[in-house]
Formats: sequence, C-alpha cells, structure tokens
Amino acid sequence: MKILVIGGAGYIGSHVSREFLDKGYSVTVFDNLSSGCNENLFDDASFIEGDILDYPFLLSTMKKGFGCVVHLAAFKAAGESMVKPEKYSTNNITGTINILNAMVESGIKRIVFSSSAAVYGDPQYLPIDEKHPVEPLNYYGFTKLEIERFFKWYDQLKGIKYASLRYFNAAGYDVDGRIKGLEKNPANLLPVIMEVASGIREILEIFGDDYETEDGTGVRDYIHVSDLSVAHVSSFEYIEKNGSSLTVNLGSETGISVKTMVKNAEEITGRHINAKVVGRRPGDSARLVASSEYAREILGWKARYSDVKTLIKSAWKVYLSHFNKFSP
Ligand code: UD1
Repeated sequence: MKILVIGGAGYIGSHVSREFLDKGYSVTVFDNLSSGCNENLFDDASFIEGDILDYPFLLSTMKKGFGCVVHLAAFKAAGESMVKPEKYSTNNITGTINILNAMVESGIKRIVFSSSAAVYGDPQYLPIDEKHPVEPLNYYGFTKLEIERFFKWYDQLKGIKYASLRYFNAAGYDVDGRIKGLEKNPANLLPVIMEVASGIREILEIFGDDYETEDGTGVRDYIHVSDLSVAHVSSFEYIEKNGSSLTVNLGSETGISVKTMVKNAEEITGRHINAKVVGRRPGDSARLVASSEYAREILGWKARYSDVKTLIKSAWKVYLSHFNKFSP
C-alpha cells in the first residue's frame, strides 16, 4: 500500500513516515521544506518537493496513485496565529481544501489528519474527552476545527474516510535516534528548553507562575512523537478495515508543569536552564490533560514513551548531536 505523507519532512511528519516504513508501507513524502528539512528524509522513502497551495502539482502527484494521504502540513504556532491569521487561513485551510479536492479528483478515499487539542479551548472539565465542547481560544485551533468540519462533509458527500487525530502536546524524538532534524525557531516548551540547555538560546521565559496548579505554572499533557506515529498507522488501518471515519484524542493522560519539565531537564542534561517568570501568554489555559480512553478502546493504542524522562532524554540526544561543541 502506498501512503502519501504531506508534511513528511517536518518534526512530526518524519516520525510518522518512519513508522509507516517500519510497518512495511511504501511512503512518498510531499513537503515544501518550509519548516521541514532534508535531514528528516529517509533513503527508503520517495520524496517530492511541492506545495499544497500549488493545486495542479498536488493533483499530478496524487494521480500517481495512493491508498491514503497523511496530512501534517500546517503552521502550528498558536500565538502567531492570533497575529497573522491570514497565514493560517491560506496554508492550513485553503491548503487542506486543495488536498481534499485533489483526493476527490484522483480517487483517493482515505486521509489521516493532524488535528489538535487546541480545538477544545479552555477546559470545562478534565480530563478532556472527545465529547468536550469545541471552542478554540486561538485561530490555529479554529483552523483545525474548521478542517474537521470539512472532513465530515467530504465523508458524507464524497465518501472520503478520515481519521482526525487530536494531538495534545507533541514532544520528544525517536528513541533510536533515527531522526535528527531540529525545528527552526521553535516556540514549544521542550525545544525551547533544549535550546537553552544547548547554549543557543539565552533564557526560557516561563509564561506565568500564578495559575491554579501545583507550582503555579501551566500543566500540559505531553505525548511522545513516536506514540503519535504508532497511532497514525493504527488509525489508517482502522479506517481501511472498517470503512468508517474517526476523531480521537491522543494524549498521555498525565499532566506535567513547566517547572517540572525544567527540573527534569536540568537533571538529565546536567546543565542549568536559565529561566525567568514573565506574564501569562494570551490564550493559555492552566491545565490541559487528555482522556485517551477512546483511542485505547478503538485503536488498542496506549502511550509507551511519554514519561517525562524519555521525552527529555530522546530530545536531548538530538540536540547534543547538533550542539555538543557548546559548553554548559
Ligand atoms: C499549543 C496548542 C496545541 C498545539 C501546540 C502546537 C493550544 C491550547 N494548544 O500547545 O494544541 O499542538 O500549541 O504548537 O492552543 N511555555 C512557557 N515558555 C515557553 C513556551 C511554553 O512557559 O517558551 C509554557 C506554556 O505557557 C504552556 C506550556 O509551556 O503552559 C506548553 O506550551 P507550548 O509548548 O507552547 O504548547 P501549548 O501552547 O500548550
């Protein structure tokens, strides 16, 4: 079976591609390399450099014949999306409509999509299950929710089956060290901590320590990218086998605070993480933790690598391989 992984040279996409390859699928990566990189490409996968906004080229690629599209090509900085919504509309929404239309035109009937816990907004109860109301607090989350709505219509009208995977906070790197590409200008907590530990960023700004949490800092459900990757393959196999769509949370069901992450990172790296508390970041919630009961039930999926130590150790190995010339 041939799988087209759009955004497959990116941080999550490369892990997902690796997992499909390991499970014996034939993988073609389609990526414009805007945030992905050559370093994340594998010899046993094909690569097509292209942009989802270039409809004729996207269509000609899809016409090569694929059993499934995996779509991870999106901008994902929630803060930036509140300042530059146009960028998110064009790439995330228009780009996905192009993908869906090209699928219709080329006869591809299955898509696995990177959605986000950002669709839920401020939690009304915890842990968050899939029945939780969806009221995104940022434009990034809105784009993901809109796309999920398009999927429902394309399923009903065109028979396209989808798996919409609502990731909580993706983190970590392949534990076997096979993926080495670093994210450019990361905004997420763990890569920022890793950059401070590596000496390429001066300081971690902790966005608020006055939340109602154990230590006052934000608590999130960090999920290892390898766990996410396994869920992509299982959900593809699910929609293929059952011929029905699905929307599912992917989280570790464990909350980790910013300070806990910093403390563990200091222990694991043996380096001081220079940090200062600043004001809260707009759009942040105090605590976001998933219920992954549905993923367990329907996919037999469970997080295996998402404990705080494995998350940090696997990321640190990659940062060290890039920046070990820096002293603490
Ligand atoms: C957000 C989205 C999530 C998405 C992710 C992708 C929401 C609610 N969540 O996660 O769905 O997949 O972006 O980018 O929109 N922090 C700091 N200093 C930093 C960076 C982060 O203190 O420099 C804190 C944040 O305040 C938060 C935690 O660390 O408490 C995690 O932040 P981050 O990694 O940016 O992810 P989210 O905003 O939770």
